[in-house]
Amino acid sequence: MTDQTTTPRSFSASVPLKGRVAIPGDKSISHRSLMLSALAVGESRVTGLLEGHDVLATAAAMRAMGATIERKDDGEWRIHGVGVGGLLQPREALDMGNSGTSTRLLMGLVASHPITATFVGDASLSGRPMGRVIDPLAQMGADISASPGAKGTKTLPLMVRGLAPAIPLSYRLPVASAQVKSAVLLAALNTPGITEVIEPVPTRDHSERMLRGFGAELAVEIEADGTRHIRIMGEAELNPQTIVVPGDPSSAAFFLVAALLVPGSDVVIANVGLNPTRAGLIDVLRQMGGDITEVDAREVGGEPVADLRVRHSALKGISVDPAIAPSMIDEFPILFVAAALAEGRTTTTGLDELRVKESDRIAVMATGLDAIGARVEESADGLIIDGTGGDPLPGRATIAGHLDHRICMSFAIAGLASRAPVTIDDMAPVATSFPNFEALLAGLQGAADTP
Ligand code: S3P
Repeated sequence: MTDQTTTPRSFSASVPLKGRVAIPGDKSISHRSLMLSALAVGESRVTGLLEGHDVLATAAAMRAMGATIERKDDGEWRIHGVGVGGLLQPREALDMGNSGTSTRLLMGLVASHPITATFVGDASLSGRPMGRVIDPLAQMGADISASPGAKGTKTLPLMVRGLAPAIPLSYRLPVASAQVKSAVLLAALNTPGITEVIEPVPTRDHSERMLRGFGAELAVEIEADGTRHIRIMGEAELNPQTIVVPGDPSSAAFFLVAALLVPGSDVVIANVGLNPTRAGLIDVLRQMGGDITEVDAREVGGEPVADLRVRHSALKGISVDPAIAPSMIDEFPILFVAAALAEGRTTTTGLDELRVKESDRIAVMATGLDAIGARVEESADGLIIDGTGGDPLPGRATIAGHLDHRICMSFAIAGLASRAPVTIDDMAPVATSFPNFEALLAGLQGAADTP
């Protein structure tokens, strides 16, 4: 998983983007489909799985804990599960690469099995806080020893010694995090009785949808103020499923913004997952004046999906409501690029969580946007950006991607709307979530002259 070669790339002013592009599978749903299939009794089939490094790290870990996972030539994945409670002790450390989702969700699974697993990862992942999952899992009885990180955080490498039977709990999430919620729900699968997660701010609900789909007893009660109580009955038996993974809205986001920014563009992005807990960017771009229409709305794998037609638009700066942040938490880097080309000021607040993603996305975006000539000011919990009103950015800078796929792709798109090229020091991290990003982009550029 840990790749030492770097791949610098330059991106420059683009011809109009034209044509149709199909987005690879959703990363969050792909991880969960492998994990739950590996815990079902019998064979599950998954199509549309994202074959990025992060998801492959999950597949390798589930294999190391006893599941049989194979990819057929037609791209279908077949998974023979071990049953809840049946995970085996992995013989070696689980290499999570760059993937926070793999790490935090798998820690949950290990926590309630009678096994011990060591988790390691790359430099980016090894700096990310794990205390947020250690706290509830320790309350459930797992014994977890982590490395000391900066400012008292607990980080990888770490070792989880699971407890079976684990202790059910009622846990109120102190941060809006689908990963923490999911870690507790997955630990609950092999825990007797009812485990409850209380979620004051809703986050992506793929775990809840898929757990139900696999036959777990899971109920969600919503209070008047929107607080969600998610209760799951433990010692579940999961039934194998056939899953179609919809396209990832977080990957679609890059082409969405590219088409809005590059004059003359008119693109259809096919197969975009539009789960309301993920679709915040589309609302925000529409508020900014983006011309985005949904075509052929349908359901794929229990998730709402549509094709999106996107045309170049003159964007206006707005003040982004912090309440929308959880439903677009991974899309702020590319939104900041859109804001840098909009007319007027865009203000974002309440984004503290961006500081603990694959990189500190507030600081790294501020530095990079400044380097390519955007007017940007960093605050403790967001960015204030004064856009160009549609004029291209100066560009002519090399951006440090900090092992963060979404930073790399965001500045690649910024390059398409810049006078002089924008160079990304290393595009290799893009393979964690969107291996064919550059090929699909080239297709939309190449199709520009075809009628
Ligand atoms: C994810 C949850 C989010 C998101 C990440 C994927 C998931 O993280 O940023 O890319 O699949 O549950 P947090 O739960 O830390 O907000």
